[in-house]
Amino acid sequence: MDNKTFYKFVEIIYKHSGIALKPGKEALVQARVAKRLRATGISDYNEYIEFIKKDEDELWKLIDVATTNVTHFFREPKSFDFIQKAVREWAENGQRKFRFWSAASSTGEEPYTLAIVLREALRDVWHKMNFDIKILATDISDTVLKQAMKGEYPEEKMKKMDKKILNQHFCCVNNNGMKCYKINQELKNMIVYRKFNLMEDNYPLKGPIDIVLCRNVMIYFDNPTRSQIVRKIHGIIRSDGFLILGNAETLTTEGDIYKSVQPSVYRKK
Ligand SMILES: C[S@@+](CC[C@H](N)C(=O)[O-])C[C@H]1O[C@@H](n2cnc3c(N)ncnc32)[C@H](O)[C@@H]1O
Repeated sequence: MDNKTFYKFVEIIYKHSGIALKPGKEALVQARVAKRLRATGISDYNEYIEFIKKDEDELWKLIDVATTNVTHFFREPKSFDFIQKAVREWAENGQRKFRFWSAASSTGEEPYTLAIVLREALRDVWHKMNFDIKILATDISDTVLKQAMKGEYPEEKMKKMDKKILNQHFCCVNNNGMKCYKINQELKNMIVYRKFNLMEDNYPLKGPIDIVLCRNVMIYFDNPTRSQIVRKIHGIIRSDGFLILGNAETLTTEGDIYKSVQPSVYRKK
């Protein structure tokens, strides 16, 4: 792929997803675009670019392959410790309705971890109180959303999970001869999956949300995009609610609307 073609793809991907691919990512772009060329049977980059101008479906398939979806259960556990503590406090103060948003949920490990953490946090009072808990989990990629909705993970992915948690919240299933773990229906029912692009102008969520997790996605965006997104998120967080970012992400220019509580955790001002 020559430089000019590389930048054409960079521009398309940036415009539609906010993902800002920098010089040095030529091989990555080439490999990911190649997947779509194979799938469509188009052999020429420019012909493909003309094709996606007319075919919106294919444009979103390109965006889908451009995403990086790395995730795992209990990723960055300090954030989940924080959530557990906050939710216990809120419940002790009488709160029964909780709303969460996993804003780049990838293959589901993040929202399912959240569901497990909430279930564990409220274990002692779970059956006594009538909790109304909902987690909205969204991503731009149809491929990961499909996997997330299935809620089934190969044994390999579960090796590091605490055995007690694993036995309590998953059941063992056989998927074409492969041993997998499926999240229990009780936790699955807490989550609603939707396709959502963080670049959209309106965040059509029925706020207010207690905690928004927007983790390890803004590392792919540039500063103006990050700033726009965290400001839009601010609008749907309840007062004194929290925004949780990834460990490698910090807010630098939003001190007027968020207060840092601990690394990667921000309270809405
Ligand atoms: C590296 S994963 C992070 C998953 C999870 N939040 C975690 O921390 O483990 C980043 C996810 O962000 C999604 N993503 C990228 N751009 C997006 C956008 N504009 N809107 C919504 N999701 C996006 C990708 O599809 C991918 O699944």
